Amino acid sequence: MPGADAAQVPRHIAIVMDGNGRWAKARFRPRSFGHNAGRKAVRDVVEGCLRQGVEALTLFAFSSENWQRPQDEVSALMELFLRALDKEVDELHAQGVRLRFVGDLDAFGEELRERMRAAMTRTAGNAKLQLNIAVNYGGRWDIVQAARQAARAVAGGQLAIDEIDEARFGQWISLAGLPPLDLFIRTGGDVRISNFLLWQAAYAELYFTDTLWPDFDQACLRRAIEDFARRERRFGRTGEQVAQA
Ligand code: IPE
Ligand code: IPE
Ligand code: MG
Repeated sequence: MPGADAAQVPRHIAIVMDGNGRWAKARFRPRSFGHNAGRKAVRDVVEGCLRQGVEALTLFAFSSENWQRPQDEVSALMELFLRALDKEVDELHAQGVRLRFVGDLDAFGEELRERMRAAMTRTAGNAKLQLNIAVNYGGRWDIVQAARQAARAVAGGQLAIDEIDEARFGQWISLAGLPPLDLFIRTGGDVRISNFLLWQAAYAELYFTDTLWPDFDQACLRRAIEDFARRERRFGRTGEQVAQA
């Protein structure tokens, strides 16, 4: 970003892409029209992250609770994911984006899973931006799947119970190995986490905007990053300690 202090650009941003349904409703169109319109916002935000040197971007595309939506909306979303995978991966690959899907992928049909795997394999060598798409993801699921892995390691004799600490446990949580989550954005006006990255958000800066996801663009992202740059992150210390560091 021209003029921005690189130290104040978040290394890892996560976004709850919310408000597609209301955006469509305002235009007297079906909810799926809003989901489809959200694709442009995804492209724009990826572009913005590449320009500003953000290392990792994690987007909430489908929560473990979203299966409860009407069947036709769920089907339309699955169709959209398939189409988006067909259409967008070439461009992302050309941009140097490494794509990864996080969540309980077993719930998806074989065709979709296969395409997700292919996209991950194809872009695995890219390093400009790590783009994580959270699908059938839930923060509680994430903690439970990590707990299962810990239990397995203990049962298998590779780990003693007392060796489980935050660092060790954190290695099993999704997105381990990426920079810690700095900035958590939610569009659409609701002020809640909706079971997104619970563990990872422990010390993220939270940013809520009324802008509906299909209207979110690079300028909106820049505003969020500027807001982030003005925050004082104390991590439990005092403001004076932070100023001296
Ligand atoms: C977010 O937009 C997209 C998904 C959950 C897949 P919504 O569909 O939740 O939009 P609103 O909140 O109803 O406007
Ligand atoms: C969260 O949005 C999930 C995604 C954006 C994918 P929702 O719109 O489903 O969240 P709630 O249920 O209203 O909190
Ligand atoms: Mg919503």
